[in-house]
Amino acid sequence: MSVTTAPNVDDFARANHLDGLTSPSLAAILEHQTGYTVEKARRFLRFQERIDRELLRHSIIRHNDYTAWFRQGRQDTDQIRAFIVQFSVFSNMFLVAQLWKTINADSLEGMRASKEILANEIGVVFRPTGEAQPAGRDEGRAYDPELVAAEGSVDGGTFRFRAAHFEWLLQIARKLGLGFNAVGKRRHGTEATLFFCDELARLYGSEDYRISQAASYAVENWAAAGFWDELVEGLETFSTRTGAGLPLAFFTWHSRLEAQHALHTQEELEGLYFTSRVDEGAFIRHGNEMLDGVAAFWNGLNGQRQRLAAQLASSARFSK
Ligand SMILES: [Fe+2]
Repeated sequence: MSVTTAPNVDDFARANHLDGLTSPSLAAILEHQTGYTVEKARRFLRFQERIDRELLRHSIIRHNDYTAWFRQGRQDTDQIRAFIVQFSVFSNMFLVAQLWKTINADSLEGMRASKEILANEIGVVFRPTGEAQPAGRDEGRAYDPELVAAEGSVDGGTFRFRAAHFEWLLQIARKLGLGFNAVGKRRHGTEATLFFCDELARLYGSEDYRISQAASYAVENWAAAGFWDELVEGLETFSTRTGAGLPLAFFTWHSRLEAQHALHTQEELEGLYFTSRVDEGAFIRHGNEMLDGVAAFWNGLNGQRQRLAAQLASSARFSK
């Protein structure tokens, strides 16, 4: 997203030592919008320093052993299958957390923002902003993640079964010999994966919308830290090396989507801070709890791939 910056907004930021604040917040201060003051902006920037220090340096944001290994593309097929199964459980259980977040929204605007994500997940294709629904345009592939927009709104968008993110993931699963009932269900989740899914429902989908917003900020910053790109890199290398020809659009589409999301996250945090009373300590605490859940997921996958490698090594010894 390109934020149009009026030159006076930059001058204003410099003159008031508010560098680092996003343009929409600076413009709101200049327009004397309710809640937006220079004093509060300075407080926010101090809070941001605290977030950087006490939340965004969480171990899973700084370093992820699993994705660092995964990106090298050295997996064997069992390790790829195990990953797809756990990811499909997370992907499906995320719908539950997103529905809770929608129900527990504290404003109609918040509810709609959550529905954008939920409806898109289950198959409503984004209608690119300012564009009419592309009726008749390559209708045969209107669900294809290679073609559908990664930004826009579900409002006025078209529902397609085959545009559900789960169905995209199912394409990869099938290529790996995993059928519909081998993926996506809670019963397929490891303890670590289920802990993460339950933490998502508890925190991200919390009835207390302040907890939900802290968890949401944490999740978005985790996603922006680049794990989608690492997964795409590893899967492409694996697919080429083994000739598996995996349809990777589920992952490449999410990587495209994330590039847009990261830009909005900061603006959302500032909007929250200026328009409501944020308990800074609780925000950081809940954000960290959410990231502990995220870390459990990846560390669980890392333990699983190590166990699979050990099993393979021992069965190779036996067969000698
Ligand atoms: Fe998705």
